[in-house]
Amino acid sequence: MPVSISATTLTKDFSSVRALNSITTSIEKGEIRGLLGPNGSGKSTFMKILMGLIKPDYGHVSVEGFDPSRDPVQVRQLVGYVPETPRLYDFLTGIEYLDFVADLYGLAPQVKKERIDEFLTAFELKGQGNDLLAGYSQGMRQKVALSTALIHKPKVLILDEALNGLDPRSAKIVKDTLVKLSSDGVTILFSTHVLEIAQAICQRVTILDKGNIIAEGTMDGLRAMAGGSTASATNLENIFLSLTGSSDVKAVVEELTAH
Ligand SMILES: Nc1ncnc2c1ncn2[C@@H]1O[C@H](COP(=O)(O)OP(=O)(O)OP(=O)(O)O)[C@@H](O)[C@H]1O
Ligand SMILES: [Mg+2]
Repeated sequence: MPVSISATTLTKDFSSVRALNSITTSIEKGEIRGLLGPNGSGKSTFMKILMGLIKPDYGHVSVEGFDPSRDPVQVRQLVGYVPETPRLYDFLTGIEYLDFVADLYGLAPQVKKERIDEFLTAFELKGQGNDLLAGYSQGMRQKVALSTALIHKPKVLILDEALNGLDPRSAKIVKDTLVKLSSDGVTILFSTHVLEIAQAICQRVTILDKGNIIAEGTMDGLRAMAGGSTASATNLENIFLSLTGSSDVKAVVEELTAH
């Protein structure tokens, strides 16, 4: 399969902290890749580098053949991004905000109208489209942020903790949307610090710990590896334990894994 995203010996320091320590990975077109790791492991930093929002100190990334630090405009045309804490304009309604973002991408009026309607319907926000964003719940804001990331039909989606604040039903709608996009060839990089969420959504996962990739592969493969008796197997097992979802995500995980 052709490669969509690649990173080679990617390194980023923030004063005394090494956020990414020479990571190398590649993600195929159409893959849903989980980026899994505890707080501060470097997930958001990796995503921001892919978006061209911060520059690496060393190493290289490529997104659909472009270097985001050299061609940020091309990359942003190709990629949809939901940051960890999306900032929306509180004084606009949901529809006005989506309309505004669609204009930034230069979408034709009819296309814009159709897509806004499609997302409001898919994410069950149709009744609230004319309400001010200031009154939206965290989950509703998250769904608007996802809609803006999708509105220009990107080839790549970068989602930083995209299920935050979503109730189980909404999480399932997002999962189904991602699976459909992936089957249409869209590459998805999806960060989470909950193992079960990565397992329910992603085909392969990359596990980061203190800026290092400590494991990569399918969840089944990694679980088999963690079952071994070597020091690295024990380390992986401990990481799994630290990433296991607490009771607050149980209902979401159950909904995501229901058939
Ligand atoms: N702008 C910044 N200035 C200084 N340090 C930073 C900055 N951004 C990130 N860091 C540091 O880099 C490391 C990696 O942070 P990053 O936000 O990438 O982690 P993360 O895996 O996304 O964590 P979380 O699960 O909490 O979102 C952390 O030690 C963090 O404190
Ligand atoms: Mg983060």
